[in-house]
Amino acid sequence: MRQGWRGTPLLAFEQPDVPACRTASLSDLDAIRALEVVEFEHLAYPYFVLRQLFELHGANWTVAEDAGEVCGYVLTAIDGDSTAWFLGFAVAPGCRGRGYGRALLEAALAQCRTIRAEQVFVTVKPGNRAAYHLYKEVGFVWADHDVAYFGVGEPRDVLVHRIYH
Ligand SMILES: CC(C)(COP(=O)(O)OP(=O)(O)OC[C@H]1O[C@@H](n2cnc3c(N)ncnc32)[C@H](O)[C@@H]1OP(=O)(O)O)[C@@H](O)C(=O)NCCC(=O)NCCS
Repeated sequence: MRQGWRGTPLLAFEQPDVPACRTASLSDLDAIRALEVVEFEHLAYPYFVLRQLFELHGANWTVAEDAGEVCGYVLTAIDGDSTAWFLGFAVAPGCRGRGYGRALLEAALAQCRTIRAEQVFVTVKPGNRAAYHLYKEVGFVWADHDVAYFGVGEPRDVLVHRIYH
């Protein structure tokens, strides 16, 4: 700290530009569903699937808010063997490029660490450069490629992030 400095330390929650992330709640499902539809179209999770996934994994889901509205999410699932998956990840188009994606991934990975996950997997469409960039930045590496992961014409790379406790 500078000699003679008398100011109050600027805490993260006082910075308007730091995206706020929190655990999802049931009332967030409509917003998550709406973002899924905008982003993933015919591959969007139907509401009833989100609702059932929420029963199993909702305690580990992370959402970001902008002006009190859900503007992004990571849907994390973990099996009984320390393996987690990010089953969904998106930020609303109007909120992109402001750090929400990175903040969401970091918060979701912190949650994976808390629940003692040892590896986290995610699928990404080849050519999705923004997502690739972020996954790589937070420590994911390429693990596999499936030419028809989500069916014919829907190839995906599988990335993994290993957590060392
Ligand atoms: C991927 C996504 C979640 C990123 O959200 P975001 O809020 O814009 O993310 P951030 O603002 O934290 O960071 C964006 C990063 O991507 C980079 N980026 C953006 N477009 C890029 C591109 N075409 N190529 C490479 N990097 C790119 C930015 O430079 C930034 O990186 P930096 O922080 O190192 O400068 C968002 O683009 C999205 O919702 N996409 C559609 C859904 C999707 O693809 N989900 C992932 C499924 S695998």
